[in-house]
Amino acid sequence: MTRTRAAVLISGRGSNMAALVAAAAAADYPAEIVRVISDVPGAPGLDLARAAGIPAIALDRRGFGSKAAFEAALEASLVEAEAAVVCLAGFMQLLSAPLVERWRDRLINIHPSLLPSFRGLDTHRRALAAGVRIHGCTVHFVRAATDDGPIIIQAAVPVLAGDGEPGLAARVLAAEHRVYPQALAWVATGRARVVDERVVIDGAPERDGAPLVSPSA
Ligand code: GRF
Repeated sequence: MTRTRAAVLISGRGSNMAALVAAAAAADYPAEIVRVISDVPGAPGLDLARAAGIPAIALDRRGFGSKAAFEAALEASLVEAEAAVVCLAGFMQLLSAPLVERWRDRLINIHPSLLPSFRGLDTHRRALAAGVRIHGCTVHFVRAATDDGPIIIQAAVPVLAGDGEPGLAARVLAAEHRVYPQALAWVATGRARVVDERVVIDGAPERDGAPLVSPSA
């Protein structure tokens, strides 16, 4: 089996990256993680990746005079790694439209809300403030607008009475770690296809694309 070469971009903790690396440790997983890149030199995820034997490099955003120069270095690194798919996993830089377009339908992101609700930051605090009963996470193909693009998979997480931000965040994060490896597998095999800006999962029974409810609820 030829495995799809995937790079993961991070800025911090790297727990989603670690979930992808763990999934890719299985011989029958259709993608391999060939490089981890952080825009923050001290990101803890870099050490996690190295400990797992994955080449991990920092491209310090502050060391580049412009966004264009940073993105040129980023792109060069992705090309050097021969990455076919790029996974954003807590990567805190907004990528420019030309770069997003060059990687169209080969660039995916995980976001800690049920998009299109709660784009942007502080999703758990805002979900609690809004009083939603169901929260969750989304993996989607990236488009130029922030947290926008065709949805590959979502996981629904109930908001429980008495939930605070840390508890809700932890429950959503556990769901993120389940759905991101599934999404990458579908993208790596070409099963997740964008048709009219919606994702079709080839050969999947309808329920494969349906929301999951966290068993910890
Ligand atoms: C995750 O909640 C992810 O959805 C968001 O940033 C967080 C990154 O966490 N985009 P980690 O670095 O993967 O642990």
